[in-house]
Amino acid sequence: MHDPAVLRSKHNARFHAEPAVFVAPGRVNLIGEHTDYAEGFVMPVAIDFATLAAISPRADGKIVLYSENFEEERTFEAAALPATASKHWSDYPIGVAVLLAGEGQKIPGFSLSIWGDVPLGSGLSSSAALEVVTGLAITSLTGVTYPGPVLARLCQRVENEFVGANCGIMDQFISANGKENHALLLDCRDLSFKLAPIPADIAIVIANTMVKHSIAGGDYPTRRRESEAACAIINGHRGGVPFLRDATLEDLEKWGNEMEPKSYLRAKHVITEDLRTVAAEKALENGDLAEVGRLMAEAHASYSKDFEGSCPEADAMVEMAQDLPGLIGARLTGGGFGGCTVNLVQRDHAKAFAETLGSRYFAKFGIQPQIHICHASGGAHRLG
Ligand code: GLA
Repeated sequence: MHDPAVLRSKHNARFHAEPAVFVAPGRVNLIGEHTDYAEGFVMPVAIDFATLAAISPRADGKIVLYSENFEEERTFEAAALPATASKHWSDYPIGVAVLLAGEGQKIPGFSLSIWGDVPLGSGLSSSAALEVVTGLAITSLTGVTYPGPVLARLCQRVENEFVGANCGIMDQFISANGKENHALLLDCRDLSFKLAPIPADIAIVIANTMVKHSIAGGDYPTRRRESEAACAIINGHRGGVPFLRDATLEDLEKWGNEMEPKSYLRAKHVITEDLRTVAAEKALENGDLAEVGRLMAEAHASYSKDFEGSCPEADAMVEMAQDLPGLIGARLTGGGFGGCTVNLVQRDHAKAFAETLGSRYFAKFGIQPQIHICHASGGAHRLG
């Protein structure tokens, strides 16, 4: 649990004002990778790592942002918000203010202190947590609050339109709408979702390869373009396929020979991943953990081989988990090319699992991975 008292008193000391404090979690995705922007299915859980924001109004029309993590302050004018990003951590919170203003909200001056423990650049959605917590904080001052799904869409637009990262809705959605002890099967087309219970005796073990992940870099948008090119070919033939969500494996077999080989493989991953994700939710609901594990293994193989979204370290981390006692399923999670693996593990075995996995990884790569035993936490809310 995150205690708001420390951030509250630091905010008070810095800005001489009593703040309201909010929290928004990071996430891991159990299954459903690179399906969100294809209007398909994802199944993330919110995790114990989170970002906190303390906010208080100001009378001078300034927006003052302070990051406890970076020990750095940035000042803006509420009446003259920036038009473009500056490749700085402040892009995320100020981008939220910019998008809210674009929605017709009158943004007042405020002081915002930020602190978080979501590891940065690890594929655990630190930026989504920062956007969502800022959205909650600012709208608490404007008085025009949004339901979770609407706030999530606005925060996704911050990434797409202000920061310049072409991501889907998954990360912001789970941060805003997560539910304790549950994964969320999200239909990224209409944002309807179903809660899938995570049994109490299952731990979510997150193993960080320590290979930096970024969605702003070249690989994520390249994979997205490649898969969308395949979709356009299918759509050109039979129509009604604006997104890969609407395509079938039969479509792919029929017109695959017209696609670049890479596009074919990316689309194959996306189409099969949607099927696996829906099946994994059903398996969780039925308590069929062996099936969940099998689907996770298949998903990793597809992500690594067909989508080429993995890296040698993540493949090894998944491989090294296979014979460890208590493992239900393991795969690379998030945007890819580094970051973390997610492992569902019988809780009694979780500690030993983490230790052995860590020492195996260190023995192979000479890098000490951070391994966290988490549970599915709740979504963003006010702390006090
Ligand atoms: C990143 C993006 C998400 C999603 C995943 C891949 O986390 O932010 O929108 O596309 O990658 O599943």
